Amino acid sequence: MTDALPQTHLTNQKKPDPCSFVIFGATGDLTHRLVMPSLYNLEATGLLPDKFCVVGVARKGTSNDDLRDSLMKGLRQYATRPVDDKVARRLLECVTSIEADPADPTSFDAMRERLEKLETNRSTGGNRLFYLATPPTAFAPISRQLGRTGMLKEANGAWRRLVVEKPFGTDLASAKALNDELLQIVTEHQIYRIDHYLGKETVQNILVLRFANGMFEPIWNRNHIDHVQITVDEKLGVGHRGSFYDATGALRDMVPNHLFQLLSLVAMEPPIRFDAHSVRSEKADVLAAIQTQSETEALRNSVRGQYLGGRIGDTEIEDYTRTEDVGPDSTTETYAALKLTIDNWRWAGVPFYLRTGKALGIKRTEVAIKFKQAPFAMFNCTSVDALAENYMMIGVEPTEGIALQFNTKIPGPTITLSGVEMKFRYKDYFKAEPATGYETLIYDCMIGDNILFQRADSVEAGWKAVQPFLDAWKKAGAKGLEKYKAGSEGPTGAEELLKRDGRTWRKLS
Ligand code: BG6
Repeated sequence: MTDALPQTHLTNQKKPDPCSFVIFGATGDLTHRLVMPSLYNLEATGLLPDKFCVVGVARKGTSNDDLRDSLMKGLRQYATRPVDDKVARRLLECVTSIEADPADPTSFDAMRERLEKLETNRSTGGNRLFYLATPPTAFAPISRQLGRTGMLKEANGAWRRLVVEKPFGTDLASAKALNDELLQIVTEHQIYRIDHYLGKETVQNILVLRFANGMFEPIWNRNHIDHVQITVDEKLGVGHRGSFYDATGALRDMVPNHLFQLLSLVAMEPPIRFDAHSVRSEKADVLAAIQTQSETEALRNSVRGQYLGGRIGDTEIEDYTRTEDVGPDSTTETYAALKLTIDNWRWAGVPFYLRTGKALGIKRTEVAIKFKQAPFAMFNCTSVDALAENYMMIGVEPTEGIALQFNTKIPGPTITLSGVEMKFRYKDYFKAEPATGYETLIYDCMIGDNILFQRADSVEAGWKAVQPFLDAWKKAGAKGLEKYKAGSEGPTGAEELLKRDGRTWRKLS
């Protein structure tokens, strides 16, 4: 079934104001892999400002030509659509390379002068977006220099915005400290804390599914929902990111950010308006309502694992502890599963089970909402226990879409039941160019719409909810860290976590 119903366009995409797009970490992986391909896609669809410049900042400067060549190579490697040379040239022509190192404050004074000249030449009106595509340790030092030199000060109608990548802090205390530091330099409305999950179509669609339809919200609560499962399973191992990952682990890397974005969209109360304040307040409230567990509870309600070598498809993966930059005694988890509860009227008594891991047999990101079973089996051929479970699945990757699982009658003279799935897949209905997911977010930063960005309070509420797990796991060390084989479904303890509640994870296929 591919006939789309009449479409309602709720947004009118307009070109952003003239501006400078200043990227710190211009020579790095993120700039090449995601930021530039997104700018390319925006340029290809006519959504970059007419008056625009890209300033690539690095600690060790390169010439404009070298930076442009390297960004062009990046585009060829990472663009999500065939690169049209004319479009690429138009974009790269706007790129200027500047050297600035927070360890040398004078380099920021020089940067300010160059930026101002460039802005006059390009008539960008002084609007600036500073994108920190750097390691997190550089967020505060760079922001301090931008603040000291006045580059972030909004004046004469010109806006100044600061885009901060994840990870935002490494625990509750460091996230608070970073928020405090940034908020001394800029105001909250100038900060865009990016989480690339919010650039994904299906993730944004959770809001539309829930609040633009009348039929789901009445059953979206503890009376009808048994529990919620949020899964982000990955096939890839840690690869060359050993040094970052070993200090981070699966919980910090994925849960307070990506999985909590999914959780908050599924669990939030309806906002009174579709604007940044209302939506972000509801998201922050639901995260703040996650019950804070004691360390003992956290240990009981969690599972952590670390992968051993194995084969995934054609790829042989070695033990995590043999990864480059990872020590042989590392107790860093590459898999985490948690049981959380939300203390409010809608969700009291409804567990949220979260799981995420690397080097697993299947790549799958989905939210599965398990509805309560029909209370009694009037079709006596099938007992209540044997009925197919009622699920709504929100698929984020690899299949984007929504599916419902329910019981139906098998054709024939007798009443025999079978579970079936009713599926909506994006690609069947909508023809969209493949995107990086960052386009929406970068475009939103340029038009000043921060609905899809994290506010200080939700970042802190997220860390507060995972802090007991971090503390308990740190104290436990190797004790309780389960090994699992690469290419498997993960540690067996994850099954146990649900089994003791009389539940099972939905089978991924
Ligand atoms: C990143 C994590 O934020 O998200 C990675 O640092 C992870 O470890 C990635 O692989 C997952 O993103 P996606 O979009 O592939 O689900």
